[in-house]
Amino acid sequence: MPFYHKLGKIPPKRHTQFIKPNGDFYYEQLFGTIGFDGMSTNSYHEQRPTQVKDIKKQYSVAPKIAKANNMQSYRLHGFKTKPENDYLESRKIVLTNSDCHIILAAPKESTRDYFYKNTDADELIFIHKGTGKLRTHLGNLDFKYGDYLLVPRGVIYKLDFDTEDNRLFIVESRRPIYTPKRYRNWFGQLLEHSPFCERDLRQPQELETYNQSGDFLIKIKKQGDIFDMVYASHPFDVVGYDGYNYPYAFSIHDFEPITGRVHQPPPVHQTFETDAFVVCSFVPRLYDYHPLAVPAPYNHSNIDSDEVLYYVDGDFMSRNDIAAGHISLHPAGIPHGPHPGAMERSIGKVKTDELAVMVDTFKPLKVTEEAMKIADEDYYKSWLEH
Ligand SMILES: [Fe+2]
Repeated sequence: MPFYHKLGKIPPKRHTQFIKPNGDFYYEQLFGTIGFDGMSTNSYHEQRPTQVKDIKKQYSVAPKIAKANNMQSYRLHGFKTKPENDYLESRKIVLTNSDCHIILAAPKESTRDYFYKNTDADELIFIHKGTGKLRTHLGNLDFKYGDYLLVPRGVIYKLDFDTEDNRLFIVESRRPIYTPKRYRNWFGQLLEHSPFCERDLRQPQELETYNQSGDFLIKIKKQGDIFDMVYASHPFDVVGYDGYNYPYAFSIHDFEPITGRVHQPPPVHQTFETDAFVVCSFVPRLYDYHPLAVPAPYNHSNIDSDEVLYYVDGDFMSRNDIAAGHISLHPAGIPHGPHPGAMERSIGKVKTDELAVMVDTFKPLKVTEEAMKIADEDYYKSWLEH
């Protein structure tokens, strides 16, 4: 998060003695990113955060690849992804490359018996269905339909759901996920032409602190494996922190669309950026107002990026037969565009209610076995005139 946040108790000067009421020390931890060059946070713990007690097991959660080199457009029926009780087991990687995993998940139960930490990747969790609370060692965030939850790598977390009916669209990114640089000034403040501002980004305001000893299981993801590591102190034992590296939330409903007289290009919808992909939010908006405007997008050849659209709600103007929970994959190398009739239908329309999340990756995506279970194999022929 590119601005400063402080929560709980911290000493007036960093790297100085911080004494508990009983005379013991609090333990400081510097949590840095990109070595010492990226955003960092200084946190203060009831116990030393280094007390590994046991490493119980190690197992792979790497995706099984069905198609490594792909030139076929696919539609995936996301809501056919099977719900699972456990959060981690529910996460199904459907598309992947060396920079990111694109994941569908339908967890039924809150994470109870363990904590989770991803050291490989930042996680962007989009809440399509469900409400609850993201609980982290750096504070909690309530979530609901339409929220993006940004969990930087290394943040220890749990997800509490209010009901069993949850649908998540998750992107794991090996490179840090930031808001677009062109919307920030040289101090990091969001500029006037940004489609969102600081007030729209929700920081943790609630810190849970447990000074407990015992056996605490943290499932830690590293290099595609999960390591079951047992710690001797409760992972949520932070009494305070300050800095720039912490989880935050942003609702897609707070994204203010940028519109124009003629069709605006996808970057106006951009919400997040990394070195390896962008994330865009397509939200309800007024259409282009040139008297001869064509509201549907033009055909385009995304020669050097794979395009993934996750359909959330509303009628998607450029596609026929697309529903909530569907994913379309339009691979780099061949043009795609509106389905037959969609361009013509769009003329004269004044607004759209579509809601969708787009992930454009700069490297091609591999299609996984999990994707093939919910794939529409004939989608690639859907532009044929019949
Ligand atoms: Fe496109």
